[in-house]
Amino acid sequence: MAGAGALRAPGPSRVGAVATYARTRDPFRFLEACVARFGDIYSLPLGPGGTTVVNHPELVGSWLTDYDRYHKGVMARALLPALGDGIPISDGDKWRRNRKALNPAFGRRNLDGLAGIIGRSLLDSIQRWDRIAETGHEVELYRELSIMTMQALQRSMFSSSVDDTDCPELVDLFRAQARYMGGLMATFWAPRWVPVPASRRGISAVAEINRRIDDVVGRRRAAPTGDADLLNLLLDIRHEDNGTQLSEAELRDELMGLWFGGFDTTGSALVWALALLAVNPEAAARLREEADAYHGDFTSFADLTSLPYAKAVFDEAQRVQGALLLTRQALVDDEIGGYLITAGSQVGVSAYTLNRNPAVWEHPERFEPERFLGEQRAAHHRHQFVQFGAGPRHCIGSGMAYLEAQFALTMIAQRFEIVTPQGWTPRHEFHMSIGIKGGLPARLRRRKVGA
Ligand code: HEM
Repeated sequence: MAGAGALRAPGPSRVGAVATYARTRDPFRFLEACVARFGDIYSLPLGPGGTTVVNHPELVGSWLTDYDRYHKGVMARALLPALGDGIPISDGDKWRRNRKALNPAFGRRNLDGLAGIIGRSLLDSIQRWDRIAETGHEVELYRELSIMTMQALQRSMFSSSVDDTDCPELVDLFRAQARYMGGLMATFWAPRWVPVPASRRGISAVAEINRRIDDVVGRRRAAPTGDADLLNLLLDIRHEDNGTQLSEAELRDELMGLWFGGFDTTGSALVWALALLAVNPEAAARLREEADAYHGDFTSFADLTSLPYAKAVFDEAQRVQGALLLTRQALVDDEIGGYLITAGSQVGVSAYTLNRNPAVWEHPERFEPERFLGEQRAAHHRHQFVQFGAGPRHCIGSGMAYLEAQFALTMIAQRFEIVTPQGWTPRHEFHMSIGIKGGLPARLRRRKVGA
């Protein structure tokens, strides 16, 4: 490779990037076009010093898992007005201290406690789905799933201190917040006078979510409960170094980070799973078989081991769903794949294109949950599937996401067949998480058990 280490990876100029975007009119096609033209490592004129994007597992670990030389940096900081300074975007000592303090809340022992809360919440939501099925009408299931996941998350965080009736309104607030975050990301490199899209509604949504957090924290302090929810776990935190608790501002920011981090991510991944099952009847039948053989009551974390196919469906759906760009900012000069990375520039990976790389995934266009089972799964490169990130900043809530997803997919498979309109297929839509354009239009057909 000519000039290895001394040159930046090849990539479009600013004008070239704008022209490619104008032609593709879509961030996903844009990234695909870059891979097609420049290969598995290329640079984009995005952010200070540019962004080097990699598209192969061998090129991911050296920076994504090295928090001493690569921190979250500018792209994450751009989200500060919408997300607060919780662990999803904080850096340095603040992040290290709070991540360490929060880790036990997502450990196995607490997930055992959360399993009951989440399982019962999903069973309550399913009754609403029963009523939808009775009507025989087509509905938009993405919204229904969002309400279902919002309820499960809200109860996991605040249990008896909240009322489920506001879940639809919360879904709208978090959607407005996500659009605002998308605007902040799209303009993070621009001068301050450039208007941020969706900011008016976004700013008032963020203020309203923070008001609700303050309200529930205030009520909990006034009337403590013994619930095994995330709020109590956070209120109990004592930092290892000096025994102090989270400050009020930290508590609010961490709750905001968990609420945002846990809501649309899980709902969007689940809608992809249902959509892909609807158009892949063999996988749907295999999931139904596993679901029918499960006789648990959805309250025990240990039950997840009897639901391996539900887990594989969830992973494979996320592979197809992908993610736009996971980035870090280099703290020092470095070299990746023989190309120069200058301190202050960004490095990123697009799980959307990585998950479609035919050198990595056999027949990436097929929906095959089996690739996440047994020997096939064991043969994966450790950075082949980065939907939950990797290294010290990997998703803190992944255990909770699997818990919710395996339970939800099993419950739904036990009760319903999802019937989409003839010829319908899901198409990607970016709104921080990756949703489905137009949602998931479907009818819920009630199953006769064993059918
Ligand atoms: C399918 C569901 C989910 C997906 C795909 C997902 C994805 C991710 C990814 C990719 C990261 C790492 C970002 C990076 O490295 O820059 C992350 C971090 C994080 N996630 Fe998740 N997540 C999910 C569910 C959850 C849940 C349920 C929670 C909590 C209730 C949560 C809370 C967080 C937090 C707080 C972080 C920041 C961790 C840190 O930087 O230390 N996530 N998530």
